[in-house]
Amino acid sequence: MVVLLGGAAGYVYAASNSKANQQYDVPLEHVAVASDSAALARGRHLTTAIGKCVECHSDDLGGKVMIDDPALGVAIAPNITSGGRLASYSNDELVRVIRHGVKRDGRGAFIMPSDDYQYFSDADVGAIIAYLRSVPAVTRDLGISMLRPVGRTLVATNQLPAYPAARIDHARKSPAMVQEDSSLAYGEYLANVGGCTGCHGPGLGGGPIPGMPPQAPPAANLTPTGISKYSDAQVEAMMRTGKRPDGSEIKPDMPWRFTAMMTPTEMRATIMYLRSVPGKEFGTR
Ligand code: HEC
Ligand code: HEC
Repeated sequence: MVVLLGGAAGYVYAASNSKANQQYDVPLEHVAVASDSAALARGRHLTTAIGKCVECHSDDLGGKVMIDDPALGVAIAPNITSGGRLASYSNDELVRVIRHGVKRDGRGAFIMPSDDYQYFSDADVGAIIAYLRSVPAVTRDLGISMLRPVGRTLVATNQLPAYPAARIDHARKSPAMVQEDSSLAYGEYLANVGGCTGCHGPGLGGGPIPGMPPQAPPAANLTPTGISKYSDAQVEAMMRTGKRPDGSEIKPDMPWRFTAMMTPTEMRATIMYLRSVPGKEFGTR
């Protein structure tokens, strides 16, 4: 019995380590990084309202302990200002970690949603990098993420999809830029890079979010089957206030504090896109 358990623990340890240490051979891509005031403003908007980088890396981008659980482990979004990790990253390496989830040393970044960010255009990823380079340096050092036995078991058995680099199609080409208007195409872009599809599912049908604990609320059905009962103004109000038309609260697992900062044009495009997708039953993602 002891030997068996020891064997299983050894397997879990080795399997979770091999996932953490896997090398991804993704070549660097060069993207222009303009640092005029328009690019900086766009970059700031993308790190808050759209990409929501600040939700994990904290408002000053100086890093945050996201989870500290005795069974699962510690998840730390590191300091990404020039007083932290940013200092050692080149711009091309930043493009790779944001869009491909591959760190400087070639290993996959832990739980950062690059499966959403892979769709960022060159212009937008460049604006994010310009903005990161411009924010005041923060010197906080919170250390690195660490898996504890239950977390290791979930990673080893693929129940916790911890390394987006393993799922991304690294050969896919990103557009040079996207037109920022109230079009369906821009709505689809925002639904991807803004993580609507990441949490609500590729088909937006909603259901439990992969990797979240069982007690976390499932993402809602955003297809016409789920939202045809709401007007455009009501969907927008939910995304801005965190309240449904009947006054009930939308849990903070829905990042409405950030979607609240989307521009009216972005709201129109996104809601138009949600109305255009095929209806799906709740829970089918
Ligand atoms: C869901 C939480 C989350 C969000 C949202 C997020 N990150 Fe991260 N990010 C992380 C974690 C966790 C790591 C550490 C990964 C590791 O140690 O393997 C990380 C690592 C990084 C790194 C590499 C630092 C290093 O340790 O080498 C950069 C750069 C970065 N993130 C930038 C961004 C940007 C830019 C955005 C928004 C477009 C963003 N992140 C959004 C969680 C997040
Ligand atoms: C980090 C995960 C996450 C992201 C990213 C996210 N959502 Fe959500 N969303 C949720 C969860 C979870 C709920 C359900 C909350 C609850 O039950 O209280 C929700 C609920 C909603 C609701 C309320 C629907 C209803 O009928 O109650 C709307 C509208 C919504 N999301 C729209 C969006 C849109 C549009 C995007 C992209 C811009 C988005 N969400 C991005 C997790 C997310």
